[in-house]
Amino acid sequence: MNKMRVAVFASGSGTNLQAIIDAQIQTIEIAVVFSNKSDAYALERAKTHNIPVEVIDHKGYESREDYDSEVIKVLEPYKLDLIILAGYMRILSPVFVRAYKGKIVNIHPALLPCFPGINSARQALEYGVKYTGVTVHFVDEGVDTGPIILQSVVEIEDSDTEETLLQKIHKVEHQIYPKALELVSSGQIEVKGRRVLKKS
Ligand code: GAR
Repeated sequence: MNKMRVAVFASGSGTNLQAIIDAQIQTIEIAVVFSNKSDAYALERAKTHNIPVEVIDHKGYESREDYDSEVIKVLEPYKLDLIILAGYMRILSPVFVRAYKGKIVNIHPALLPCFPGINSARQALEYGVKYTGVTVHFVDEGVDTGPIILQSVVEIEDSDTEETLLQKIHKVEHQIYPKALELVSSGQIEVKGRRVLKKS
């Protein structure tokens, strides 16, 4: 089977990138790791595994669209089949989402549609929910609104702080992101409206 050529986008530590690398998914090849931050530790992880990196600092661009157009240009030679957002802390403009329509996936640290945006673990604690979790979804033009591929639940205990809850969420993320990517890259699922279904 042909491997999907993917880019992993990360702005920070890159523990999800590491989990994806470690999972050695047979149906994907990480062609490049992209970041908007030159000091993102994710870039070091990529270099350790001899994966090419690209960095474009978002500062200095007049608009989100200008920045994303440059990102599209820089990534063009990689001939990508899929964009994997793994802690990429920028909202993608419609310019980017349309360029890779249906080919962008994201991991979000909550059970969407609850607690979209940033600081989702803090939002869950402040709201007082007893369960939160992790969502892997396709990206559309909204913020954290695309069709859901996989979700997994994390219980919130009385003793949890934002830090301990984030640790629990990360552990689950590292399990379900590789699973979701395997489903996407091996053609086992299809999107029907808002639903992502296993092909029969
Ligand atoms: C992850 O928890 C991911 O769900 C979150 O950023 C973290 C990145 O961790 N993403 C978002 O909040 C996107 N809105 P990592 O750099 O260790 O993979």
